Order: sequence, then C-alpha cells, then structure tokens
Amino acid sequence: MENINKAIGVFDSGLGGISVLKELVSLMSDEDYIYYGDSFYAPYGTKKKEEIVKRCMEICDYFVSREVKAIVIACNTATSAAVNILRDLYKPLPIIGMEPALKLAAENKENNSIVVMATNLTLNEEKFNNLMKKYSNLNNIIKMPCPELVNIVENDMLDDTELVNRQICEYFEDIDMKSLDSIVLGCTHFVFFKEYLSKILDKKTNIIDGNNGTARRLKEILENCESIHKKDKDTKKGEIIFLNSHSDEKYIELSKRLFNSL
Ligand code: DGL
Repeated sequence: MENINKAIGVFDSGLGGISVLKELVSLMSDEDYIYYGDSFYAPYGTKKKEEIVKRCMEICDYFVSREVKAIVIACNTATSAAVNILRDLYKPLPIIGMEPALKLAAENKENNSIVVMATNLTLNEEKFNNLMKKYSNLNNIIKMPCPELVNIVENDMLDDTELVNRQICEYFEDIDMKSLDSIVLGCTHFVFFKEYLSKILDKKTNIIDGNNGTARRLKEILENCESIHKKDKDTKKGEIIFLNSHSDEKYIELSKRLFNSL
C-alpha cells in the first residue's frame, strides 16, 4: 500500500489519548486513524516501567501488523517509560511522543508559579526531572500527582460533578490560587477536566496541554516524508477505528462519547 493511504496508529493506557486523537483529526481530517485504548491494563501511572514497556511493544507490534505509517503515543506516562526503546525497535517508523508542556508554561516569563498535574510515573521519571531542572531556577514548579482523575475517566464518572469537584479541590487545598500562573495538564486524561478546572482557578491562570503541539509535530513529520493526505474535495473524510484491550463493548461506546464531547 502507498504510504499516503496508510492509517496512523494512536494509543494510550486507556481513554485519555482520545483528547489527542480529537486534535489530530481537527488538524488532519483526511487521514485514517486506529485508536487503541489499553483500558484493561490501565492505569499505567502506578505500574512498573518494565510492564509499561511490554504493553507498548505489544501495541506497536499490532500497529506494525496493520501497516500504519506513524504511531502517536498519546500518553505522557508511556512516553516517559518507553519512547526511546520504541523508536529504536521500530525504526524508521515515525513515533511521536508526549511530555508535559512545561516549556510552553515557562517560556518568556520569570517567577511563574506553575502546577504540573501528571501521573506518579511521569513526575518521578528522569525525563521530566531534567525538563523541570531547566526551568526551576526561574519558576516555582509544583508537581501534582493525580491518579484518581485517570480512574474517573476510565470508570465513566466524568459527569459525577460532586465527586470530581471534591477530588480537584482536595488537590488544590494547599495551593495559593491567586499566585498561580499556569496549570500544565501532563496527562492526556486530564484534558477532559478542563471545564471543572477553569471553574475553580483564578481567571488569569492558564490551562496548558500538549495536544495541539503533538498534532502539529505529526503533521510536520508526515509532510517531510511526503506521507500526508493532500486536501482534495473529492477525497472522503478519514475513518477512525476505535479498539480497546478491554473486551467489554462499553469501552468502545465510551471512547466515541468522549471523542464527541470535545
Ligand atoms: N493518559 C496517560 C498520560 O498521559 C496515563 C494515565 C495512566 O494510565 O495512568 O500520562
């Protein structure tokens, strides 16, 4: 098959990466996508690195068998644990990873107060700590592990406003909200909480995620290797296939619902 007509593989530990998929589809709507949610094994954020690497390799092997033209790791945790290994293993297949968009929050400003919401694994990994070192002498960066929010998305409890508000307020209990400049959503599941967060944050506090940057990066890579679908009024819109490691059909239904909610 010609590279141009091949699909793009997108995966996450579960349903968070659907927020990235939405951004990819908005930017490149003519492409075909296969989304693989690893909900049966979610969450990744509290697992050992070796276990995550193993799951990522199994998912990438599957994508290779489907002859995808690129893979997006729509998961900060899986990226921290496995991106270098995956790039080495599947060379020359382009593999796009994600990391908390701290640069975007810190750039061009000093004495910023920034909260990075992410999983325990992402926040403890060397990759993030090196990134943090770059900006922490000029900014006050607070690490905030939020594993409960991953479970809320996976268990279809996003509409339980009381539960979600209680959980979010608990995280921010000891934070001086008035002096907070930015919140970095360093986990793709957290994008689904933007509305909840904007209600409790001060108006001047920015909520930053890396989804748009990831989509633009993929577009650039596909353009460079001439594998991108050219916009043409005769071509049909791309197709999205939702897959999940959990055999319960409700995960596919929830995937579609989350995709349409953004
Ligand atoms: N969505 C994932 C991320 O971006 C991880 C959530 C999890 O499985 O713990 O980090």
